[in-house]
Amino acid sequence: MSDNLKRAAAERAASLVSDGMRLGLGTGSTAAHFVAAIGERVRGGLKVVGVPTSEATRAQAEREGIPLSTLDETPELDLTVDGADELDDELRLIKGGGGAHLREKIVASASRRMIVIADGSKRVAKLGRFPLPIEVAPFGLKVTEIAISKLFSSLDLSGDLRLRQSADGAPFITDGGHFILDAHLGRIEKPNVLASTLNYIPGVVEHGLFLGLATGAILATDQGLVELG
Ligand code: 5RP
Repeated sequence: MSDNLKRAAAERAASLVSDGMRLGLGTGSTAAHFVAAIGERVRGGLKVVGVPTSEATRAQAEREGIPLSTLDETPELDLTVDGADELDDELRLIKGGGGAHLREKIVASASRRMIVIADGSKRVAKLGRFPLPIEVAPFGLKVTEIAISKLFSSLDLSGDLRLRQSADGAPFITDGGHFILDAHLGRIEKPNVLASTLNYIPGVVEHGLFLGLATGAILATDQGLVELG
């Protein structure tokens, strides 16, 4: 059922794409439906170019026959369509459940519009139930972990930091060669303060709070599509 909802949101987003658009292609199971829908339209004659947000999306887009570019060749994009792990009514997001939030954030920031596609369960009153992914450099991991924990205490946030693991028990490695610490916070009262202060910690490469980047959302619910923004 949830997969049908994801597909419905993705297909609605794909219907907003027109000839000549430069697209940011998101990562995850919902974004994969969007990439598949764009692939189908490309095979039917749609002319677009896509910038993938992960190696997994690049591989899928190549299989779909979508012409691809890089941000170095195409630094301005018209539209990025991507999933999210949580979003609130101000279109603030937690992303990075798939570990791609570094590239996803860079691609979204290069886009005039970013539309989030998700099933309705991702909409929350307050961010933070989903663990916040924080991509960190492997070098000095312990020091970075301590600095993040101290920051959380100073902001009255409690919850543990867990090093993300792959299925084989080894640390999960991102496309950029970094680790991910998942911060189990429960609620994030002041996402703006947390987002800006996290960025000051040496060793933090990027976190999954996306603030001021999404311009719209398409949420699929059992009652139909809900569009925000
Ligand atoms: C990957 C992401 C994904 O967009 C997010 O995890 C949602 O994925 P899904 O559509 O599979 O629920 O941020 O880094």
